[in-house]
Amino acid sequence: MASFITFEGIDGAGKSSHIETVAARLRGRGADVVCTREPGGTPLAEALRVFVLEQPMDAETETLLVFAARRDHLRALIEPALARGATVLCDRYTDATFAYQGAGRGVDREMLDRLEHWVQRGRAPDLTFWFDLDPAVAAARLAATRAADRFEAEDRAFFERVAAGYRARMAADPARFVRIDAARDRAAVWAQIEAGLETRGW
Ligand code: TYD
Repeated sequence: MASFITFEGIDGAGKSSHIETVAARLRGRGADVVCTREPGGTPLAEALRVFVLEQPMDAETETLLVFAARRDHLRALIEPALARGATVLCDRYTDATFAYQGAGRGVDREMLDRLEHWVQRGRAPDLTFWFDLDPAVAAARLAATRAADRFEAEDRAFFERVAAGYRARMAADPARFVRIDAARDRAAVWAQIEAGLETRGW
């Protein structure tokens, strides 16, 4: 069965390193798996990603660019993959827009609802792993790794709002989400992901 699985959380929560492990597990069970990310996943969306992560712009422009990237990604990659029966694993999707542009930057929630509807035509994830981590811990992890992009350079208060945005998305649609306690060590995080997959027979 075609499935669309997304991975969400604030920067530094550690989601990306687990996506390939999920892919390997599903492939081991015979699934055709496509791994992708947002913003990105197609040549146009990857080009837009560079602007979104590096170029100064206002919150509305940022919102339109992430939705433009998403539209291209859906049309050229996600929908065709799901149509042929593949499982799509996507590093971030629209929950990130509600969390970062909505809760983080204060973009009007009703406008986000309308753009979501217009761009996605109802395409929502079947399952979302939300890596929940205290922003203070995430900031410490990030500081130890790399140069910050426009989002990673934001302050603690921004990430508190983003985390609250994710919490609200989960509260509005709890059946779609599996909350991962991302403060645990790598093995314990993986065990939680595995349990989430097993509950759904994956
Ligand atoms: P991220 O997924 O963390 O990739 P990397 O690990 O390579 O940094 O980076 C993407 C950034 O884009 C992240 O900070 C969140 C942001 N973002 C939004 O603000 N809105 C969106 O809709 C999406 C998909 C991402």
